[in-house]
Amino acid sequence: MLTRLAVFAGALSLAVFVTSAAGAGANPNRGKTLFKATCKSCHVEKGGAKDLTPMSKTQAQWTRVFKANIDPMVKRVQTKTGKVLVPADLADIQVFLVSHAADSDQPETCGAK
Ligand code: HEC
Repeated sequence: MLTRLAVFAGALSLAVFVTSAAGAGANPNRGKTLFKATCKSCHVEKGGAKDLTPMSKTQAQWTRVFKANIDPMVKRVQTKTGKVLVPADLADIQVFLVSHAADSDQPETCGAK
């Protein structure tokens, strides 16, 4: 019981650390991996939702997507992949999408269709 508590406390402080790390600078490479592993499980051709790549939207549009209510998106990901996206994950995904948006310096289709 004590051990489980300690593990939980450890995980909690790690989560806090990761969240504040995201504030200091989100990681687009990690965001790309997460985007492919979670969002792309549906947002591909014949995946159930429309095909999405960073180039599907402009920087302003992606920024709006992540400012809007993202709870349904997080729930969809959890249902489909079992992964619970925490704010640091979402920050990484957002910075990846925005930095490779249609009007960015490096538009990207994400490699994996
Ligand atoms: C379980 C499947 C599923 C997962 C996983 C999923 N989505 Fe979606 N998403 C949908 C569905 C269904 C819609 C609504 C229909 C549509 O737009 O295709 C939608 C809609 C959207 C829209 C609005 C469509 C538009 O063009 O503006 C965006 C943006 C979006 N999702 C982004 C994401 C992102 C980013 C992730 C990963 C963090 C994600 N989705 C994960 C199924 C999913």
